Amino acid sequence: MSFVEETVSENVICFKAELELLGLPFGTRSTLIRLADQSLMLISPIKICDALEARIREFGQLKYVIAPNKFHHLYISRYPKAFPDVTLYYASGLWSKVATRAPQYKYHHKLAEKGMPWDKEVTTTYVQDAPMLDEFTFFLERDKVLVTTDLFFNFPANLNLTLTSRLLAKLMGIVPGAVSRSMLMKIATKNKEALKGIFLDSKEKGVKSVICAHGNITTENADEFIDRVIALI
Ligand SMILES: [Fe+2]
Repeated sequence: MSFVEETVSENVICFKAELELLGLPFGTRSTLIRLADQSLMLISPIKICDALEARIREFGQLKYVIAPNKFHHLYISRYPKAFPDVTLYYASGLWSKVATRAPQYKYHHKLAEKGMPWDKEVTTTYVQDAPMLDEFTFFLERDKVLVTTDLFFNFPANLNLTLTSRLLAKLMGIVPGAVSRSMLMKIATKNKEALKGIFLDSKEKGVKSVICAHGNITTENADEFIDRVIALI
């Protein structure tokens, strides 16, 4: 599997993997955060390959791999083979399935807002009243980076869509050249004030970069970008 590395800040890089849906270049993204002790947390793991494994080792010591919501967990169980010391963290909805199916796996943990080993450096926030999605967001205080997954899309204008993929994009709520939210996400995230609160909080903390899983990363004028996301909620 090929991937493209994206630099976000001194301690955050992303890996963007191709994912095509009926000609629509949907893509998906992992975020790698380096903590002060050089340990790494990987959010939304993409499929592991030799090149990705080597790059992760170069960046630091992978300790935590995180499925941040119900949709971004597909390759997580492959990571312990490459990184035997890793601990896997699952969003609440996934955790109930994992705990039932594989209770013997010591490296499986439930993701939570408090009690995580990265608490001193990264704020973990649960998106309230959104069980269909079950998403957690992450804010790295040192580099002022907000990591979200499926809360919004941020696709570029030059998507080069066919008639079919343009229709699919429209159905999915993708607006090329603009930040957007799908109808599914609007339905899934019922508590608008809580959701706005996550983005407002990042702005108050001086957010410099905003990451989402599908579309572009924002590394300039992040506070203005946050305002656009909030306006959509
Ligand atoms: Fe997604």
